[in-house]
Amino acid sequence: MNLLKWLYYGFTNKLKHVLTCFLSFYFTRIIKKYHYKKIDISQLITNWIFQRIFRLQSEIPISVNFTSKIQGYKNIIYNGDGESAKISMAVSGGCYFTIFKNTTLEIGENTIWAFNVCIQTGNHDFLNRENYKVANIKIGNNCWIGNSATILSGVELGDNVTVGANSVVTKSFPSNCVVAGVPARIIKQL
Ligand SMILES: CC(C)(COP(=O)(O)OP(=O)(O)OC[C@H]1O[C@@H](n2cnc3c(N)ncnc32)[C@H](O)[C@@H]1OP(=O)(O)O)[C@@H](O)C(=O)NCCC(=O)NCCS
Repeated sequence: MNLLKWLYYGFTNKLKHVLTCFLSFYFTRIIKKYHYKKIDISQLITNWIFQRIFRLQSEIPISVNFTSKIQGYKNIIYNGDGESAKISMAVSGGCYFTIFKNTTLEIGENTIWAFNVCIQTGNHDFLNRENYKVANIKIGNNCWIGNSATILSGVELGDNVTVGANSVVTKSFPSNCVVAGVPARIIKQL
């Protein structure tokens, strides 16, 4: 009986210890990263389980939505603190970013994106699919990329650009406009 009690208390104490360590580690990280406070805790925990336990996109140091795929994360450059972009990274699911070797994706301050956004800095060669034609992408400050938009390689967007839902952005646009459609065209100047 005593042995059972000892085992039971030993086990519950260990469990408490492990849980306390886990929670204190996790919440210290959240408190340190300001943008995490704006994200639903269940979303952060789900992302965390996929990244840190199932090791999906475990090389990425920030929370990535568990349904997104971000390749070449180290080639992403945030202008400013990148807080808004990091929130989109965690909450906007189904995104597919590929930032090829020797290319960059620059993302401005206060820029956000919705679900299913696709950003690729390269295209397969038309005949040899092993080869890619690559070019940098730059998105300015305070941009909003709508749901399911695609931004192709070489595109530069100025500041305050809104990209409409389902648009395919094939060329660059200056600041202060709304672009939409396939291919995207300016539908409004601000
Ligand atoms: C781009 C957007 C912001 C424009 O909104 P708006 O200023 O109210 O635009 P309007 O409704 O006045 O449309 C202006 C014209 O652009 C067209 N248009 C608007 N959005 C479009 C889109 N996504 N694709 C193609 N054309 C679009 C309209 O049909 C309209 O054309 P018309 O003048 O020939 O009738 C909005 O349509 C949109 O796509 N929002 C994204 C929503 C989203 O992704 N939300 C995710 C949550 S974060």
